[in-house]
Amino acid sequence: MEDGHTMSGNSRAGALITLLVCLSVSFAQAQVRPAEGQAHQWWQDAVFYEIYPRSFADSNGDGIGDLNGIDSKLDYLKDLGVDAIWISPCYPSPQVDFGYDVSDYEDIDPMYGTLKDFQRLANDAKQHDIRIIMDFVLNHTSPQHKWFLDSASSRTSAHRDWYIWRDGKAPGVPPNNWISGFGGSAWQFDPRTGQYYYHYFAVGQPDLNWRNPAVEKAMFDVTRFWYERGVSGFRLDAVDLLFEDPNLHDNPVLPGKNDLGDPNMENKYNDKLPEVHTELKKLRKVAEEHDAVLIGETYTSNREELKEYYGDHNDEIQMPMDFMFCTVNKVSASDFRSQIANAESTGGWPVYVISNHDMPRSYDRYGDKQHNDQIAKLMAGMYLTLRGTPIMYYGEELGMENNDPVRKEDVKDPIGVAGWPEEKGRDGERTPMQWNTSANAGFSAAKPWLPVPASYKTHNVASELEDPNSVLQFYRHLLALRRHEPALLNGDYVALNQDDPNVLSYVRRYKNEAVVVALNMSATVQQISFNLSGEGFSASQATTLLTTSSPQPGGRLDHIALEPFAVYMARVSR
Ligand code: GLC
Repeated sequence: MEDGHTMSGNSRAGALITLLVCLSVSFAQAQVRPAEGQAHQWWQDAVFYEIYPRSFADSNGDGIGDLNGIDSKLDYLKDLGVDAIWISPCYPSPQVDFGYDVSDYEDIDPMYGTLKDFQRLANDAKQHDIRIIMDFVLNHTSPQHKWFLDSASSRTSAHRDWYIWRDGKAPGVPPNNWISGFGGSAWQFDPRTGQYYYHYFAVGQPDLNWRNPAVEKAMFDVTRFWYERGVSGFRLDAVDLLFEDPNLHDNPVLPGKNDLGDPNMENKYNDKLPEVHTELKKLRKVAEEHDAVLIGETYTSNREELKEYYGDHNDEIQMPMDFMFCTVNKVSASDFRSQIANAESTGGWPVYVISNHDMPRSYDRYGDKQHNDQIAKLMAGMYLTLRGTPIMYYGEELGMENNDPVRKEDVKDPIGVAGWPEEKGRDGERTPMQWNTSANAGFSAAKPWLPVPASYKTHNVASELEDPNSVLQFYRHLLALRRHEPALLNGDYVALNQDDPNVLSYVRRYKNEAVVVALNMSATVQQISFNLSGEGFSASQATTLLTTSSPQPGGRLDHIALEPFAVYMARVSR
């Protein structure tokens, strides 16, 4: 599931770049809405932003972020251009997996605040025109959840069948060979009732039995609880894994071992079973009653799997995340071109992410240690201008980097604890948001739960707001452009210059206008030229909207020079 790579710190390239923004022209068109084709749903035009609540802003000085902290940063988010925040789990939890082990779905963990604080945040977010998406951890609970406590109490308890209990094959031998994503067998023996329970993730995350209609009803009611409190949708955690083969067939074993030392395995009988789709259709119906959106943590490995998640009649997940896009771990025009084509070919509305709380930050994955800031802008120039909805990860807009633990005793993430040193876990990408140059990057008055990297001195909100060439300013300009340029919201996607190994180019066409995007994915200057007559645009003149290269003389589309890793965007009219 997780990309377990870890990265060391990066050196910084301090090169100055030119940022040219022609927003005044764009603002004039702000009112143009789609009059042809299908009108967009709110989530198609929105920019989503993932907040890891432990690490965003600490309002009460305990070193851990909280809901009031998020509330205090709504102006920042609004100003940045964010329309919806997805808050990673903030429910009561023993924190075995930092909130992904929920012990009560209908409350807030005291470390993050109270339901009253949540209500205040929801109201304030509404005032800011920012929607809230909750994380729905529907595959498993904590063993401290009252359902599991009852389930484990006896073989005949009311909730026994809410989880997956089975006899071992023989004394000391688990029911089958399934492996946990967190290491070791996926079965835990409980001497109290003499049976094993199934946990795809940690021992502290028993899987719910979605074949039990009582589980389904209780979980659907959880979504209603939050919809009634103003939530606009859910990010569905680990949704691939909702069902298991009831006959518990062994999974095929593959050659080699994974980073946690377990045999590689094809999760044929416990991953993406067809029943998942039946369930999603039902969950979608409940969402529809509340004009809500479902976002999927969908780890697909081909277009057919991704396509299936939209539903045959667009009746499953509106926004399945395309993690195949994240398998491109280098700045490569041809690799991204083919992944974009893959997403486009599903016929669905693409959802692009370049990092999250489970994978090393994009700054490290794509940075070359010399042009890291340029590359951060380049990546933004891509995923914020493609046809689809982007989901940002907090701090990405600053060029935040991973800060991986260097000693085992500092590791907090259970994956890092199990896999050290090959697998250092996910702490590195979950460090505190970098607000300013003061102690702890302005995140907290106390020692934060994870340490900030030294780069917070340069890569923080306050400093970057002062610097017209910062990564943050680039994001702000680009997000404003996206909001006001009709072709960027509504236009189709047409790949250009597809044989170019260095520059990824495409045009977003909408009515009589189009935006051309050219992204130099190489460390050398590239000369490029566009002829858009085949795409219905004969003009060779273009209005530059934004570039990190030197200004293009005369805006000639047939003669553009792009500096290393530069972004160029221009508008053309018919
Ligand atoms: C998802 C979450 C991850 C968590 C796992 C178990 O993959 O994104 O952080 O560890 O589910 O809930």
